[in-house]
Amino acid sequence: MKYNALEKFFLKKYQIKKSNNSNKNFLSKKFKLLKSFIKKKSPFLKKQKYMISFSGWGMETTFPSPPWINSIDVNDVNFNSCHEDLKSLISNKEFILSQFNLPGTNYEKILEELKWRSYIIYNSIICSINLSKNNDFKIVECGVCDGLTIFYALSACKSKNVSFKGYLYDSFGSMKEEHLDEKDKIQVGDYDYLNIEQTKKNLQMYENEIIFNKGYIPKIFIDGNNPADISWLHIDLNSSKTTLQSMEFFFQKIIDSGVMIFDDYGMFPSTKAIVDKFLADKKGHFINFPTGQGMFIKKNS
Ligand SMILES: C[S@@+](CC[C@H](N)C(=O)[O-])C[C@H]1O[C@@H](n2cnc3c(N)ncnc32)[C@H](O)[C@@H]1O
Repeated sequence: MKYNALEKFFLKKYQIKKSNNSNKNFLSKKFKLLKSFIKKKSPFLKKQKYMISFSGWGMETTFPSPPWINSIDVNDVNFNSCHEDLKSLISNKEFILSQFNLPGTNYEKILEELKWRSYIIYNSIICSINLSKNNDFKIVECGVCDGLTIFYALSACKSKNVSFKGYLYDSFGSMKEEHLDEKDKIQVGDYDYLNIEQTKKNLQMYENEIIFNKGYIPKIFIDGNNPADISWLHIDLNSSKTTLQSMEFFFQKIIDSGVMIFDDYGMFPSTKAIVDKFLADKKGHFINFPTGQGMFIKKNS
């Protein structure tokens, strides 16, 4: 059974072990079932040639065109340019995606498959800028890796012509048992290949707008250069324990109408449980996306 680089990442991230059955992979099996169901139910689709408008990150859609296709909305147009810029940087080896660095990796395909996820990151920034009364826009990411998601976030800030600062937290070292709950312990040793210097090079164009806080969460919250107030928080740590510690540290600092994004919400049941519990008595609005991301818009009054 062979997996491409993104599928390997996906399987690891969602802790699904390789099965021995003869199907090529669990994703294509699910897609096939969905396709045959839709074909059976829809006479229109039976006649029409079956059109896939998006496929990737565990999702396949047919009718609705993704919002970035043929859109004249300025944010969608800017998102597309950001996405194309990143593809060029990667193909020129000016941005290295070490987390997918396997022989024969098709990076362009990976970026396309991640496009809905990247679009939601990009738009969560636009949303928080549009709702914000703050001219000084501070954003935080816990779990930076090569800088892929924060690249989209920083690019969205730049497109809105606001003054912004990004505070980036990552150990840039392997994951340790003490930071993981029992169910997440499969990940001990992950990300041992990360190198902060490479991430700095990847994000070089934003070097004046970003502050790197290299160290393990939660200790880095004591030692780091932390913002006093923030408008946007992205948590992507593959660990429910450190996700909770990050929420506990940053929640009070999030301004009115500030946005929190959780990459692991829909895929790590332990993370979903702690996020739900933490937000249960907080004012705001929560949305769960089919990408597995969860987004909370905070209200302070
Ligand atoms: C899934 S990756 C982040 C991916 C990134 N957001 C992206 O999409 O490009 C998870 C990151 O969390 C970091 N991490 C995990 N546990 C950590 C901890 N206790 N303290 C700091 N960083 C941690 C890892 O080093 C890794 O870079």
